[in-house]
Amino acid sequence: MTERTFSIIKPDATKRNLTGKINTVIEDAGLRIVAQKRIRMSDAQAKTFYEVHAERPFYGELVEFMTSGPVVVQVLEGEGAVAKYREVMGATNPAQAADGTIRKLYANNVGENSVHGSDSQDNARLEIAQFFTDDEIVG
Ligand code: CMP
Repeated sequence: MTERTFSIIKPDATKRNLTGKINTVIEDAGLRIVAQKRIRMSDAQAKTFYEVHAERPFYGELVEFMTSGPVVVQVLEGEGAVAKYREVMGATNPAQAADGTIRKLYANNVGENSVHGSDSQDNARLEIAQFFTDDEIVG
């Protein structure tokens, strides 16, 4: 089924000029980038976005990292986009990520792991709505 997922190209990747290379991996996997913008995430936006991790020991560090530089927020569309993008990103920890995945290719470590992708269709809808209005998404 054609569906949408939410993606973030994180500050470690924008800093190293990897936006184009990451987008190539995304598009080569058959996912269409139907919305995209480069933003500076505010402290409030990052805290809300990662609220589910609020009790984790790395929460403060994560919020600080996500606001440390520009990010590229995206909406990706395609067959089974949520699962497909998670496959394309690879494991959260790049040391465990499969060959050819974005995190294996580019991530620095488990925190600075270059990309985020939604983990379910429900979360994809919520995450997309946090950063995009309907008319910004052109499918
Ligand atoms: P992401 O997919 O954006 O969702 C939660 C993020 O928390 C995750 O990617 C990592 O960037 C970060 N994260 C997960 N585990 C750790 C950890 N052990 N230390 C630091 N950051 C982590």
